[in-house]
Amino acid sequence: MTTAEQATAAASGASATERFHTDKSPFDAVKNTPTERVDALAREVLSAVHETIRKHRVSYDEYNALKAWMINVGQDGEWPLFLDVWVEHVVEDVATDHREGNKGTIEGPYYVPGAPECGAAGTIPMRDGETGTPMVWHGKVTSTDGTPLAAKVELWHADADGFYSQFAPGLPEWNLRGTFTTGPDGIFTITTIRPAPYQIPTDGSCGKLISAAGWHAWRPAHLHVKVSAPGHELLTAQLYFPGDPHNGDDIATAVKPELMLDPKPQPDGSDAVAYDFVLDPVAR
Ligand code: DHB
Ligand code: FE
Repeated sequence: MTTAEQATAAASGASATERFHTDKSPFDAVKNTPTERVDALAREVLSAVHETIRKHRVSYDEYNALKAWMINVGQDGEWPLFLDVWVEHVVEDVATDHREGNKGTIEGPYYVPGAPECGAAGTIPMRDGETGTPMVWHGKVTSTDGTPLAAKVELWHADADGFYSQFAPGLPEWNLRGTFTTGPDGIFTITTIRPAPYQIPTDGSCGKLISAAGWHAWRPAHLHVKVSAPGHELLTAQLYFPGDPHNGDDIATAVKPELMLDPKPQPDGSDAVAYDFVLDPVAR
């Protein structure tokens, strides 16, 4: 069976949920939040729900359907998908609006730390004969004052069928996941393939919401990156390709004009891409 035949929302959801539990200590990070803040946040979110119920005269049947649906989202492990598609983009906006350098965009549910080291110039791990247009990306990491930075560029993306390794079955563990480490000149050269547009899983609870609401499930083709350097804020971003039919209506609302690549087709059939990163120093 192919990856496409075996992939299910429940399987990728369960993997995303498990990943989130293993990597983060979300409760520790907020253990000193004052009760006043928790009170205000919880009360205002609930008020918005109450207002919506009154405004639309929500029925018991609709309330029970919501209850059943929310239980299913949890059982499918789809909370990471739901939150990263419909909520994270606003958190990201708020978190990065002070930056002078790159602001970035959402992380999404499919980051895995510790991808294989590929040097400053290298090829991301991929299968023999990996399909998709080859892409060579030249870039440089600098600080906001223009100083080059010895940096780490972690890159992960879907394959030419829209699947992520470790979340869809049948792919090598680190397929299309790599860590590129620059020297003090900040320069990197990455060889990879161009990913396909990605449809968030349609066979689970998020898919049910999408079809019930008459939405579509597409994210435009994108590369995910995390760029880090000592003394600088971590940049989490995605890069997009001009002409993708979903650049204007991304289900995850994560496209920004400054994240658009400008691929230049080469005589050998590959695309050349130039894209640099500017990191903000950590405020002292
Ligand atoms: C989802 C998947 C992605 O690849 C992404 O970048 C953002 C969200 C998702 O399925 O929720
Ligand atoms: Fe993605």
